[in-house]
This record gives sequence, structure tokens and C-alpha cells, in this order.
Amino acid sequence: MNDTPLNQDFDLYIWEGSSDLGSRVMRSLADFDINLIRADAEPELLPARDTGRTAIAIVSASVMTDPRFRGQDWLRAQAIPVIWVAAHDRAQDPRFFPPAYSNTLPLQFNAADLRALLFRLAGIAQATLRPAPARPLPLVTGSPIMQSVIDEARMYAACDNNVLIHGATGVGKERIARLLHDASHRAAGSFIAVNCGAIPDGLFEAHFFGHAKGAFTGAAGSHKGYFEQAHGGTLFLDEIGDLPLHQQVKLLRVLEQNTVTRLGATQEIIVDFRLVSATHVDLPAQVAAGRFREDLYYRLAVIELDIPDLDARGPAEKVLLFRTLVRHILESTDEPPVWLTERIANMAFPGNVRQLANLAERIALVRRLCGHWDDDRLERALRQAMQATAPSRTPLRLSQIPSTSMPGLSEADVIERERILQALAQNDWRRQATADTLGISRKSLWERMRRLMIEDKETEDRETVDSPAESE
Ligand SMILES: Nc1ncnc2c1ncn2[C@@H]1O[C@H](COP(=O)(O)OP(=O)(O)OP(=O)(O)O)[C@@H](O)[C@H]1O
Ligand SMILES: [Mg+2]
Repeated sequence: MNDTPLNQDFDLYIWEGSSDLGSRVMRSLADFDINLIRADAEPELLPARDTGRTAIAIVSASVMTDPRFRGQDWLRAQAIPVIWVAAHDRAQDPRFFPPAYSNTLPLQFNAADLRALLFRLAGIAQATLRPAPARPLPLVTGSPIMQSVIDEARMYAACDNNVLIHGATGVGKERIARLLHDASHRAAGSFIAVNCGAIPDGLFEAHFFGHAKGAFTGAAGSHKGYFEQAHGGTLFLDEIGDLPLHQQVKLLRVLEQNTVTRLGATQEIIVDFRLVSATHVDLPAQVAAGRFREDLYYRLAVIELDIPDLDARGPAEKVLLFRTLVRHILESTDEPPVWLTERIANMAFPGNVRQLANLAERIALVRRLCGHWDDDRLERALRQAMQATAPSRTPLRLSQIPSTSMPGLSEADVIERERILQALAQNDWRRQATADTLGISRKSLWERMRRLMIEDKETEDRETVDSPAESE
């Protein structure tokens, strides 16, 4: 029974380790024409990948935790989407959150779940196989409320003042930031987009200010930071609300002085960029709570733009966007059936335009693979998309894990926990090395891990299991 349009030529790489994952997967996919490649080998020994074919990988979590596993670099280099098969507690493990690995299936997966996930990933993989459309999708709107935001952005593009964009996830903040750049006199300069939530603490300066040759070990050449890269263009600081206070001070100084000094250099360099920032958090509330500098807020928010949620823009906007996106993906003027657009008009999209765009991608994939608008399959794709509905399908950053999921931990604890988890992952969960990285004793690390409810993943064969009494 082919209940999804997956019966096509398809490469499925499996790293199963010592599990029986491969045979379970094959049983679940018995009706499909899938080319299974058992990949429990050095990546160099794998057959050369045919980049013209769709590929997906399934990896057992036990393989991932094996320090000898090198397949992840290969998978990332090949841009192959990955499904982790992990026990429930493992799936919660922060090491499984990196974006490329954000698809997990429980150890006891059922065939339908596996197929649904493969279907979704196949859509993404197919989309990446397609040559990128020559023309990027224009900024589409059919609603007066969004049209006025776009008109305002066009108007403000002409001036050089800083802009702060507010809006929920996936509403199109970055699109508006690009419009501000593209319609400005800086359009010939660079548009440098930076996600402030994704910069590791210790690397803020190297990223933003750049460095001189020999500034630190490994700095073979000199490097321009984001401020310099944006010179003559626009610097877009996404998720500005995630910038810690001590980094806010550094940003403020640059905005006041319009100069930067690369790490390890003495010469001041003049920088000239327009700053556009975006946030989904209520920055004035952050200011009131002492988490965001008031002086910086006023510098950023000379002009403010509020982007409304998709649901607030009304059904006509949803239909227009959906139809435009599907036709754009299919590169045709073929119209999706009316019953489908009617359903979409009445659906809620908490994940906003991004969520609608994902749905359009699925629907276009079904259309392409079936060769016609197959009502039953469209219906199923729609239902699956609605089941998968989440406010945001963007990968969860550790700092965004609500503290309610870790009862008893304060916000500061959650941040501390994240810092320790990152150091642990970086050091392959070896405690001594992690303690050294964090500049604390091994005993202190052990105590903090216990207090912050970090489950120990250190394997006995790597290092002997210690107790607090034993160290120091
Ligand atoms: N009006 C629009 N017309 C066409 N495409 C749009 C529109 N608004 C958003 N998109 C598309 O929706 C997706 C999400 O938009 P964008 O990345 O700008 O949102 P965002 O608010 O920055 O999201 P996040 O909060 O997750 O960073 C993108 O693929 C973008 O191209
Ligand atoms: Mg964004």
C-alpha cells in the first residue's frame, strides 16, 4: 500500500551500529522502491553520492554518541537530511538539537510515523535538488494591513535611520529587512544578516570586530568582522533581544563612535552601515526588567515596524500567499483546487508565513510526484501538515527551552545549564576536559551538573566514573 508519494528512486543511508534498525526500517518501507545503503563504514568508503538523487539518512542515536562516528560531517557536507532514532530521553538530549539533526523518531517508531517523516524530508530534499528559481519570490500581500507595513518600509528605505522590526516567528521580518536594504541607496553594498542568538559567548568579538593577523592561535590571516563587512551596506541583527547585556554595551559603543578595532589591532577603522534589528520579544518589557539596555533600545528603535501575524491578516492573504507560493515552486500557472484553498483560508497558522510556505512546499511536491492534483493525497498531506503544526518549526535553541520544562531552575540556572551542556558536548562529555574549558574544578562541575539536572553521559570506557569525594 503506497500511502505516500514516496515510491520513487530514493537513496536511504542507514547507520545502525549494533542495532537491527536497518531491517526494521526496510520492513516499514517494504512497499517502496528505496535504495538502501548500509553506511556503517568510514564515509570515505561509501559509494560516491549521486547528487541528482534524493537522499535521506537514518542514524541510530547510539552511533551518534560513539566518538568515532564521523558520518555527521559527511552528511552535513552532502546536505542530506537526517532522522535520529533515539530513546525518548536521548531525544531530549541537547546534543540532538543541532539544526541538521533536529528530526527524531522514537526507538519504537511505527511504520506510519517513519513514512510521514520521510515524506516531509523528501519534500525538503527534493526542493534542494531543484535548481533555485531564477527570480526570488516577490514580497506578496493581499491584505491592507500588511500592505501598509510594506509601504512604510519602502518609505523608510530612503532614509538611513536605524529600524527595529517587531513580529512573531516566521512573519517575514527578514524579508522586510531585505526590502529596507534593497530599496535604499545602500542596495549595491552588502546585506549582512546575523542571528544574535546563535553567537557563542566567547566568539562575539571575533565575529563582530574581526581580528588582525596573529591575534590569537590559529588566526593565520586578518579577518573583517560583521561591522566592517556591512560597511556601505546594511547590518541586520536578528533576535537582538538575545544579545546579553555585556555584548549590548559593545554594540552601543560602535553605534556611538562609528569605529571598530579588530582584535589584536590598534588601528581604529571607520564603519558606515545602516542598522536594522529584529526581535520577537517585547523589548520595552525587557528594558523594564533590566535585561535590555534602555540607551541601546532607543538607538535601535528610531523607526519601528510591527509585522502582523498571518492570522491577523485575514483569509484572503493566506489564499493569495498559498497560491503564489505553490505556482512559484511548480514554476507553472497551474492552480491548486478550490476546495484546498478554501481549507487553507480557514486554517490557523501559528507559525505564520514560514509554516504556510512549508505547507505550500508539501502540496507542490504531491502535485509534482502525482502528475495531477490528486485529492486524496492532497487531503492526506494537508492533514499531516496540520498534525505537525507547531508555533514554530525552527529548531529550538537551548536558551529557548522554557524553564518550566526544568522545574526548580531559574532563568540564570537555565543559562548556566546551557553553558555547561555546550562545554560537555564540545569535550565529548569528558569531565576533566570540560571542567578545564569552563575554568572550574572537576568537583565543582560534578556538583553543578547534579544541581542543574544534567544527566551524565560520560561512558565508563572513556574515563573512570568519579565521585565528588574522589576529585580535588
Ligand atoms: N509577504 C511575503 N511574501 C512572500 N514570502 C514571504 C512573505 N513573508 C515571509 N515570506 C517567506 O516566509 C519565510 C519566513 O520569512 P522570514 O524569514 O522573513 O521571517 P522571520 O520573521 O524573519 O522569521 P524568524 O522569526 O523565524 O526569523 C521566508 O521563506 C520568506 O521568504
Ligand atoms: Mg528571521
